[in-house]
Amino acid sequence: KTLQKSLNKLVLTVPPQLQKEVRVEFDGFEKLFSRYLNESVDQASIDWQDIQPPPPETVIPYAKLAEEEIEDTKSLLDKLIVVKLNGGLGTTMGCQGPKSVISVRSGLTFLDLTIQQLEQLNRQYDCDVPLVLMNSFNTHEETEKVLQKYSHVSVKIYNFHQSKYPRVDRETLLPVATNMSSQENECWYPPGHGDVYQSFYNSGLLDQFIEQGKEYMFLSNIDNLGATVDLHILKHLLTDQTKHEFVMEVTDKTRADVKGGTLIEYQGKLRLLEIAQVPKEHVDEFKSVSKFRIFNTNNLWISLPAVKRIIEDETLHMEIIVNNKAMDKGINVIQLETASGAAIKSFEGAQGINVPRRRFLPVKTTSDLLLVMSDLFTLNRGNLVMNKQRSFPTVPLVKLGTSFTKVKDFLTRFESIPDCLELDSLTVSGDVTFGKGVSLRGTVIIIANHGDRIDIPPGAILENKIVSGNLRI
Ligand code: UTP
Repeated sequence: KTLQKSLNKLVLTVPPQLQKEVRVEFDGFEKLFSRYLNESVDQASIDWQDIQPPPPETVIPYAKLAEEEIEDTKSLLDKLIVVKLNGGLGTTMGCQGPKSVISVRSGLTFLDLTIQQLEQLNRQYDCDVPLVLMNSFNTHEETEKVLQKYSHVSVKIYNFHQSKYPRVDRETLLPVATNMSSQENECWYPPGHGDVYQSFYNSGLLDQFIEQGKEYMFLSNIDNLGATVDLHILKHLLTDQTKHEFVMEVTDKTRADVKGGTLIEYQGKLRLLEIAQVPKEHVDEFKSVSKFRIFNTNNLWISLPAVKRIIEDETLHMEIIVNNKAMDKGINVIQLETASGAAIKSFEGAQGINVPRRRFLPVKTTSDLLLVMSDLFTLNRGNLVMNKQRSFPTVPLVKLGTSFTKVKDFLTRFESIPDCLELDSLTVSGDVTFGKGVSLRGTVIIIANHGDRIDIPPGAILENKIVSGNLRI
């Protein structure tokens, strides 16, 4: 009740015409928060003994779908909308503003590439697949500004904003904000991408698309450059005898992706198991490639009428992710979040599709950026395609040190992006720069100790080499 009172007070600090919208958002927050307070630890955690690997028919290989011929593509695409999660900022890579406006390849941003892909698709099949962006209060304004430059493109672009929830003081369990309008953003947070279902519904766009006859949304992270519209999956959804209200693209785990969520069968339903839900004593088992072979790419295909139903029937359930943070002022706060993939258990006929790795090409760090900027890929109308000259289909393992973390620093340290076609793994640490036309092959390790600096000269070919200080082996 005290929480309700303080939320009511916050609502009154916005102009009357905006109060209704804020109240709807706060309803969502209150529900999430009371679930958090009422769910006992036992209810929230998972009983390890009851976890089963997903039965074979619930996770099918993509290759099986790819055998099918696709006909009448236009009528398939007419049922589709593409939704990109665009609530995140570029802070991890040292950038200000939405992550989607960072240049990732040939001066094109995540947003440019997404729009190019859809332009190409719409042109090729004479269709009208719209792009929908889910922004957060952190990205909304700037995204709207940037979108002006696309007014001439042949893709309809819509955007809506996800909820803005108050951070809660861990001691008092009350919002730290006292005022909606003049508070710094530190008092608020976007509650994770699980918020997409409710926010999309609240925006009115869901109903609008259902009325237009759209049936599925393809939802993915805007920073996953491999998340392109796949016609085989779309055909499967629209023509399979079984109705699949929710499809999650998963892919085989490698030693580099030990942390991603995996699909399990639990109490007769397909579920996403995240590392945060795993009891400590089973974390190593969770990370092992042998027991949990696949992980969630967060490329999700979801039935629009089903979203409407589960929101209206209030049967949507996602595990709460508790994110503890410390504010600048030293106040410890909690923010409750949800993840979109966790909704899988609320839908009927849910299925996993084990897709090739190329559909998972996330750019989270500048190490990922090096790969997507390099000759490992070619760019074809917004699609990054692995260079045919690479003799094996996996990307190298790249670990750039902290002097490369910010995009700005990264760019000044490479005079040009090295040739990586024959690279297996690259580790760089300390004050290192690369001249023009460097070629990296096999396993390369470059370590400049504190106070040292290593400049790799233009045209150098480093093949299975360790470079450290002045010592060259
Ligand atoms: P993140 O970059 O935060 O997540 O967001 P992650 O590290 O891939 O891990 P998962 O997928 O959350 O497990 C992924 C995408 O979701 C958007 C980001 O903009 C990014 O495209 N996002 C995240 C939102 O739109 N809203 C949020 O509240 C959080």
